[in-house]
Amino acid sequence: MNKKLNPALLKIVNRLRDGNYHHGKTLGETCKLTPSGVWRIVQKLKQYGVALESLQAKGYRLPEPLILLEKNKIKAQLKQLAFSTKTDISAKLQIELFESIPSTNTYLKTKPAKLTVCLAEQQTQGRGRLNREWYSPFAQNIYLSLLYSFEKEVSELAGLSLVTSLAVLKALHSLGVDEQVFVKWPNDVYYDNKKLAGSLIEIQPEGPGVFQVIIGIGLNVNMVEDNHSVSQPWISLRKILGTYVDRNILCARLLHYLLLNLEQFKTEGFAPFAQAWMRSDCLNHKTVTIKNVNEKIQGYVMGINDQGHLLLKLANGNIRAFSAGETSILR
Ligand code: BTN
Repeated sequence: MNKKLNPALLKIVNRLRDGNYHHGKTLGETCKLTPSGVWRIVQKLKQYGVALESLQAKGYRLPEPLILLEKNKIKAQLKQLAFSTKTDISAKLQIELFESIPSTNTYLKTKPAKLTVCLAEQQTQGRGRLNREWYSPFAQNIYLSLLYSFEKEVSELAGLSLVTSLAVLKALHSLGVDEQVFVKWPNDVYYDNKKLAGSLIEIQPEGPGVFQVIIGIGLNVNMVEDNHSVSQPWISLRKILGTYVDRNILCARLLHYLLLNLEQFKTEGFAPFAQAWMRSDCLNHKTVTIKNVNEKIQGYVMGINDQGHLLLKLANGNIRAFSAGETSILR
């Protein structure tokens, strides 16, 4: 079920954010809620897995930092970025924010072709590539999907996932993440051999020669525990930086760099991004296997071409370009 962010839930969290105890009565007064209204929200937060302490004599407190997403904060940050770079690419961007949704990518499939971003605090059916589940706990990470239109051949869109990962990288560098962060062809961002972010790109025809793309990004931000046994080694920004990260700031930066990259990709294609990719690529000059629908091939990575295809030197000495597939490094 799609559930828009409840303003009362936001008010309560913003009151509790200081980490002190607040009586239910004073919370109700300041947030204009009845005692049962406060109680319902507290129960909802607990259901979402938020650690919330309650003492009859003292009220409620949040032992861990918690900053929820807010459209206005993201818009203000985007404006500031637009001002400092003199590029107001986000002026037409529509933001839709959900408390809980099955999947932000799936949601945008039903939307008209307008520049729209869908953000959610929780996904109940978050999807990764190859039909994998994308674990999406409440208010911990970024689950972001952007709807964007391209007048291009579908074959020209192969570089899109690389351009997306490069935007994620720029946003991470802008927050002080060091050079240990790498892109992994075609859609992953890794730190210390652990997955930090991934993207899921879905393309659907919109009209003759026009494609609607949905660019879904999952980025581990404040998650420190995995109650879900995620199937692969992962890391979060909080683990890397050693501090809680305000996702509003990060969302704005992600969107800013993503929109800038998409504008350039729209007009100039992938070629201008190739150098940046090579600089941060963790596969280059490694022996890898690539798996796609019906084959599994081993080869030595010779970089990428101007379309963003992975170039592999095969056992017979031939170099073959791959436009899609799942790569893993051979140790
Ligand atoms: C992957 O690495 O396998 C891709 C992960 C993509 C996850 C994001 S979270 C936002 C968007 N909504 C989804 O259901 N999936 C993408």
